[in-house]
Amino acid sequence: MEINYQETSKDLLVRIDIHEKYGARNIDKWNIEVLDPKPGYKILDVGCGAGKQCFLYSDHTNGRATITGGDFSEELLDKARAKQAERSDKNINFQFLDFNKPFAFADNTFDFVSSAFAIYYAADLQFTFSEAHRVTKPGGRLFVTGPLPENKKMFYDIITEATGKAIPPMPGSSRFKGDIFNTISGIFAKTELLTFENPLTFPEVAPFIDYVRASLSEDRKLWTSMFNGKDEYEQMIGKIEKVAQKWFDRDDKLVMTKVVGGILATK
Ligand SMILES: C[S@@+](CC[C@H](N)C(=O)[O-])C[C@H]1O[C@@H](n2cnc3c(N)ncnc32)[C@H](O)[C@@H]1O
Repeated sequence: MEINYQETSKDLLVRIDIHEKYGARNIDKWNIEVLDPKPGYKILDVGCGAGKQCFLYSDHTNGRATITGGDFSEELLDKARAKQAERSDKNINFQFLDFNKPFAFADNTFDFVSSAFAIYYAADLQFTFSEAHRVTKPGGRLFVTGPLPENKKMFYDIITEATGKAIPPMPGSSRFKGDIFNTISGIFAKTELLTFENPLTFPEVAPFIDYVRASLSEDRKLWTSMFNGKDEYEQMIGKIEKVAQKWFDRDDKLVMTKVVGGILATK
C-alpha cells in the first residue's frame, strides 16, 4: 500500500527547508569541516537526491572540484540538473546510480565518497561499501551520515502518545552504529564515528506537522503498519496535531533534536 498523494522530492525539500529554518546548527558546515574538499578533488556523492551536498562541495571549492552526484531517482536527478542549470556549475555531473548495483567507475577514482542519509538503506552492506571502497583512491575517505537511535526522540514520542502504537523499526538508525559501522570498519583501513546534534525549535505547531507529513510520506514503506489508506492517515495526523498542541501549550515550544552520526573511514 502506498501513500502516493505526496511526492517524494517535494517532501525531501520540505524537510531540508525546515532544518534550515528551525535548526540551531548547520549540518552543511559540519560536513565541510569534516571533509574540507579542495580544488582539484574528485568527489562522488551517493544518493545525492536534489544535489544538496554536490552544490555544497562545489561552492566550497569555487567550482574547482570534479563532482559526481549519483541517485536512482530520475525525478530527483532532474531537480538537481535544473538547479545546476540555474547556477551554471560546469564541474558537476548528475547521473543514474543504484547503490545496490556495481558502481560505474574505475578503481581508485575519488578523493572522497560521501553519502548523506541514503546509503544505509543498501540491501547488501558488504557489497555496497566494497564498491565505495573500490572507487576511492588509496588514502581517500568515505563519509556516511545517518540518524542515530536517539534521533528525533520527541517526534517519535508524540506519535506514540497520539496513536498508542509502537513505532515501526527504522532500519536507518537501528543499523547505523552496529551493522553499518562494523561493515565499513571491516573494509576500510581506519574508521571512526562522529556525532552531530541539531535542536530544531518550532515556534508553533504547524511547521512541526509539515515536518511529520514530509517524514511519514518519505519513509512510507516503513510506516504502513500505523494506518490503512488516506483517511486513516489523515485521522492519525489529526491525533498527532492534538498531542503536539498539548506539548506546545505546556512548554511554549516544541524542540526536536536531530542526532546524526557520521562514519568517517580512510582507505
Ligand atoms: C533522504 S534522501 C537524501 C538525499 C541527499 N543526500 C540529501 O541529503 O539531500 C535519500 C536519497 O537516497 C536515494 N536512494 C535510495 N535508494 C537508492 C539506491 N538504491 N541507489 C541510489 N540512490 C538511492 C533516494 O532517491 C534519495 O535521493
